[in-house]
Amino acid sequence: MGPTGTSEGPRFTLSLSVSWDHKRMLRWLLVFSTLGLGACGAPTIVSRKEWSARSLTCRAQLTLPVAFVITDQLMGMECQEQNVCSQRLRGLQSHSVYTKGWCDVAYNFLVGDDGRVYEGVGWNVQGVHTPGYNNVSLGLAFFGNKLGSSPSLAALSAAEGLISYAIQRGYLSPRYIQPLLLKEEICLATQQPVMPRKACPNIITRSAWEARETHCPKMNLPAKYVIIIHTSGTTCNVSMDCQIRVQDIQSFHMDTRNFCDIGYHFLVGQDGGVYEGVGWHIQGSHTYGYNDIALGIAFIGNFVEKPPNAAALEAAQNLIQCAVVKGYLSPNYLLVGHSDVTNTLSPGKALYNIIKTWPHFKH
Ligand SMILES: *[C@@H]1O[C@H](CO)[C@@H](O)[C@H](O)[C@H]1NC(C)=O
Ligand SMILES: *[C@@H]1O[C@H](CO)[C@@H](O)[C@H](O)[C@H]1NC(C)=O
Repeated sequence: MGPTGTSEGPRFTLSLSVSWDHKRMLRWLLVFSTLGLGACGAPTIVSRKEWSARSLTCRAQLTLPVAFVITDQLMGMECQEQNVCSQRLRGLQSHSVYTKGWCDVAYNFLVGDDGRVYEGVGWNVQGVHTPGYNNVSLGLAFFGNKLGSSPSLAALSAAEGLISYAIQRGYLSPRYIQPLLLKEEICLATQQPVMPRKACPNIITRSAWEARETHCPKMNLPAKYVIIIHTSGTTCNVSMDCQIRVQDIQSFHMDTRNFCDIGYHFLVGQDGGVYEGVGWHIQGSHTYGYNDIALGIAFIGNFVEKPPNAAALEAAQNLIQCAVVKGYLSPNYLLVGHSDVTNTLSPGKALYNIIKTWPHFKH
């Protein structure tokens, strides 16, 4: 019995050249900066009928729209043409049903290296890809590429089209997130050092947002903690507004709270921008007892009810990864929510629920 359906018939082991047990190797970050801007039509989806799938027996329905996208890459299924990719999928389906005991392939859709989207269990049915997320996510798997290589541009672009379409049609929330992304990347970094590292985000410097000049105590680097905070005020989603917000926060912290400078090391806007607060080298004023050993990263806005958008979440994750790469943050740092270390609502429940899934999170 699979978790979401039944498997009938004999169990047998297929002798496949590469085991699918080693497939969950990485989850792709898809940067969908142009999402929601209309224009793109429906992606071409190779239906189950077209790839000659056996009939779908999964029953657990998805409640739409879902809030999460999970992406995986399946190894050992090399193919570049529709007929070969279809054949690979039939093999995967048999393996999933007879060996794994699942009701079908584990994913809602599969994206071939040929740039085609293949229907898995589809829009309305829960996949079996990620415990805890199956009933709230669309699971996408890339397949068909050579061992060790990334999905083709055609595949990435097809996935992007599919996600756009999912949002337009109400299958996926426009504010969807990819919660397990960074976790897998770090695991990947230790297994496959050849993969390209994500670049550090562009940081909007103090001079760019016209910070007031200060002379404050130095930080103890590398920092041992990351503290995730929300500013709790108005949010911003265009750079001009975010810069004004950051200036206002600096004035409030210096003139009203009597802090030496703006209290945070960095601020992240829903424009996807990272704004330099006091920066890497200066102590923040965010959390009594932690200011000299913890990087305080503040999301601009209030995230009690609604989490920050994908652009902001991604920017913060990139910043953290960048801090480790540059040696400003200990590789075995701990990540905590502001409310874990002081009595506050910050970073807000909706944001807290997301950072709980991030690597190095420690309650
Ligand atoms: C998903 O499953 C979990 C655990 O079974 C459950 O608590 C949650 O309410 C479900 N969510 C939806 C949207 O069905
Ligand atoms: C930015 O926020 C405003 C309201 O706060 C909203 O109307 C607008 O659609 C948002 N723009 C983007 C690009 O998300």
